[in-house]
Amino acid sequence: MFGVVALACILVIFVTGFFLMFFYSPSSTTVTYRGSYAPLDGVEMSTAMHSTMTISFDLRGGLLMRQAHHWAALLLPTALILQLLVTFFTGAFRKPRLGSWVLLFLILITALVGGWSGYALPDDMLSGTGLRIVEGIVLGIPIVGTWTSALLFGGPFPGDIIAHLYPLHIVVVPVLLVVLVAARIRSAWVHKPAQFAEAGRTEDNVVGVPILPNAAVRAGGLFLIVAGLLVLVAATTTISPIWLYGPSSPADASAGSQPDWYTGFLDGALRLIPPGWEVVWLSHTWTFAVIVPLALVGLYLLAVLLYPFFEQWITGDRREHHLLDRPRNTPTRTGIGVAGIVFFGALWGAASADLAATHLHLSVENVVTAYQVIVIVGPVIAFLLARRICFALQRKDREILLHGHESGRIVRFPGGEYVEIHKPADAYERWRLIAPPGDRPLELHPDADGRIRLTTRLRARISRFFFEDRIAPDLDELDAS
Ligand code: HEM
Repeated sequence: MFGVVALACILVIFVTGFFLMFFYSPSSTTVTYRGSYAPLDGVEMSTAMHSTMTISFDLRGGLLMRQAHHWAALLLPTALILQLLVTFFTGAFRKPRLGSWVLLFLILITALVGGWSGYALPDDMLSGTGLRIVEGIVLGIPIVGTWTSALLFGGPFPGDIIAHLYPLHIVVVPVLLVVLVAARIRSAWVHKPAQFAEAGRTEDNVVGVPILPNAAVRAGGLFLIVAGLLVLVAATTTISPIWLYGPSSPADASAGSQPDWYTGFLDGALRLIPPGWEVVWLSHTWTFAVIVPLALVGLYLLAVLLYPFFEQWITGDRREHHLLDRPRNTPTRTGIGVAGIVFFGALWGAASADLAATHLHLSVENVVTAYQVIVIVGPVIAFLLARRICFALQRKDREILLHGHESGRIVRFPGGEYVEIHKPADAYERWRLIAPPGDRPLELHPDADGRIRLTTRLRARISRFFFEDRIAPDLDELDAS
């Protein structure tokens, strides 16, 4: 269903974007504003900002279209990230849906590029500040930074960045989105959605919900509700009020400027590096304040992309899976997922460190230090805690399976003994609660030369870490009960 929400966002973005395209002008040439917004009358601004002001104040329905475009661009990554999370925690990425995971990840990255490039187009003070940060990051990349910046900006800041971003925004990103979404829908059509275990449902007979009429009605309804809500929100709630920010000026930077929510984690990563991390080596300046966040975020995204392949390697399991896992039955995977969320959350929160400091009357240095600690320690604690909670939930499931639910009825036997009567779980609940046998730690076997390779040892060790601890009920014990 998150996929349907994402599709509705994409539809709203395309329809409103197509409208905006006719009135927006991607030019940095300076003009004087003479529109109906009186406070900026006579102010010099780029043609790009001027056209966005005209769309907002002098074009019927223009502001609604702008705001619907922006709100949909904010909801799209939300839906995609939630879809990735649900897929991750239920193991829906396993064969034969590995490709779907990759496609979903690429759609998210494309949506982020779309949002980021669109954010820059109005050329107001906020988007100008964002672009200035991007220029700083690009210049900070060793060896190729200066050339890359010259290529991107086409000269000293701000150069022709708006003209360069425009084709990326209205051609490259949309085409990529269409291709990737079409491939993703095809993959979902071919493989059908994976489903949770229910009475009688096994790996071999997952059928999915019939497309007509059930799935079509549900999905169609949700699609229309999301599209309608987006228009309603756009009609009533201001987003990106560029007239308050004023035109972009390379000499200024507004305090408290915030990126759109989905790029916050990148901004936060930059803010968490202690000052002064820079050395000169081989006549190049190596700015770790830029290299470290870039590497960290790059590795994080790579880990998200490759996790399904990593798990397949660890388990050695190449079978097809059509039944979803309950997150509690895969504690290590669930722990890793929660740790990933905490890491992302800490970077994201750090992007607002200055606002947290001013609103809570704290020193910004202390807030940054707190986030530095959270970003390192938080994921470890989150992993351990989530794993423990999974085991506790497994234990609870086992209790229900073996002894049923507590009924609250206490009976006294003739001998004086008090016993609580338990109500056995019915067949449907037992089916749901019985965890599939699941993966066992890999056993070490020598290869054809009689040697145990280092990679085999490593794989066995990680596999033990993943699968050694397990509380799920033993089926023999259950039969006996
Ligand atoms: C058919 C594809 C698209 C077209 C033709 C299009 C067109 C445009 C145009 C002309 C603008 C500048 C006008 C303005 O800022 O109000 C704009 C801004 C923007 N676009 Fe798009 N766009 C498309 C796709 C996307 C996508 C895929 C995203 C993000 C996922 C996106 C996010 C944005 C954002 C955040 C803005 C800034 C809006 C604002 O001014 O507040 N666009 N787009």
